[in-house]
Amino acid sequence: MLYSYCGHSGVQLPRLSLGLWHNFGSVDDFGVATQMLLRAFDAGICHFDLANNYGPEPGSAEVNFGRILREQLASHRDEMFVASKAGHDMWPGVYGTGSSRKNIIASCDQSLRRTGLDYFDIFYSHRYDGVTPVEETMEALIQLVHQGKALYVGISKYPPAEQALAYKILKEAHVPCLLSQYRCSLFDRKAQRQNFQLAADSGSGVICFSPLAQGLLTGKYLNGIPEGSRAAKQSGFLQKSQVTPERVAAARQLQQIAEARGQSLAQMALAWVLADARVTSVIIGTSSVAQLDNNLQTLDKLSFSTDELQAIEAIVADPALSF
Ligand SMILES: NC(=O)c1ccc[n+]([C@@H]2O[C@H](COP(=O)([O-])OP(=O)(O)OC[C@H]3O[C@@H](n4cnc5c(N)ncnc54)[C@H](OP(=O)(O)O)[C@@H]3O)[C@@H](O)[C@H]2O)c1
Repeated sequence: MLYSYCGHSGVQLPRLSLGLWHNFGSVDDFGVATQMLLRAFDAGICHFDLANNYGPEPGSAEVNFGRILREQLASHRDEMFVASKAGHDMWPGVYGTGSSRKNIIASCDQSLRRTGLDYFDIFYSHRYDGVTPVEETMEALIQLVHQGKALYVGISKYPPAEQALAYKILKEAHVPCLLSQYRCSLFDRKAQRQNFQLAADSGSGVICFSPLAQGLLTGKYLNGIPEGSRAAKQSGFLQKSQVTPERVAAARQLQQIAEARGQSLAQMALAWVLADARVTSVIIGTSSVAQLDNNLQTLDKLSFSTDELQAIEAIVADPALSF
C-alpha cells in the first residue's frame, strides 16, 4: 500500500480507503463483508469510511463493522483510522436528520454505541443542510474533539462558501479540518474545479468518494445491467436511469485507453482521481474480494502520459456524462 499525508497534518492515509456505504448492511452477506474487510486490512487499507445511515437498514453497517472488529481485529484498533458522519436521514422525525448540534452530538454517541468504539479517528459533518448555521455545526464538531469522541473532524460535500467558512471557524478553534470529502470521478469533476483548491489552500486533505461513479466506470454495464449489480439492486443508490447510453459509450471508449495502459477500466478510473496532487485518498466500495483485489492493483500504475490525459479529456468533456 502507498500512504499519503492529509494536507498539513501528520496523519497518513492509505491511497485507497474502504467505504461501507453499500455491501455491509443487514441486507448483505455478512461473510462476504467480513472477507472484504479482512482482505482490505491485510493489504494495508487501514482507513474505513462509515456514516450513521449506512446500511440498509440505517445503522447496520456500523453494527457489522463493530462486530467484525470485535470478532476478528480486536487487537488492531490502533492500526486503523475509522470515520463516521452525521447529517443525512437516519430516521423520520425532526431529530433524525440535519446538521444541528442536537443531531451531530447525539448521532456520534449512537455511532459509537453501534460500532463499540471508544472514539472515531475522524467525525464528519456529512453535508451542509442549507439551514443550520455553519457556526453551529462546526461548534458541535469541535465539542466532539474536546470530549474525546473524535480525534479529528471533517466536512463532506460543503459548497465553496460554507466550506471556506467551516475552515475558518475550525482553524480559529485550533481544531483544523483534517479532511474534506467530495464526490469525484471521470464522470464528475465539479469538486475538482470548485472545492479542491480551497481545501489545499487551507491545509485540509481531500478524500474522494464514488470514484467509479458507483460502478459505471468499471465496464460492468457495457452490455446491459447485470443481475446483482448496484443498479439492479432494490437497495442500491445507482438508478437504472443513470445507466445512460452516453455513459455506457464513454465507458467503452475509456476501457480501450485502459487496456492500452495494461489496466482495467476501474484501475484507470481510480488512478485518474489519485493523479490530482491535492487528493490524499480515494474511498472505494466493493461487493466482492475479487473487486477489491482488482482495485488494489491500481497502485501498480498511477502515472499518465500527456497523450493519455488528452484522449481521456476528449471523452469525458461531454457535459451529458456528469451527474
Ligand atoms: N460523503 C458522502 O456523502 C458519500 C457519498 C457516497 C459515498 N461515500 C463513501 O464513498 C464510498 C465509496 O462510494 P461508492 O461505493 O459509490 O464507490 P465506487 O467505487 O464509485 O462504486 C463502488 C461499486 O463499483 C463496483 N466496483 C468496484 N470495484 C469494481 C471492480 N474492480 N470491478 C467491477 N465493479 C467494481 C461495485 O458495484 P456492484 O455493487 O455493482 O458490484 C461497487 O459496489 C462509500 O462506501 C462511502 O464510504 C460518501
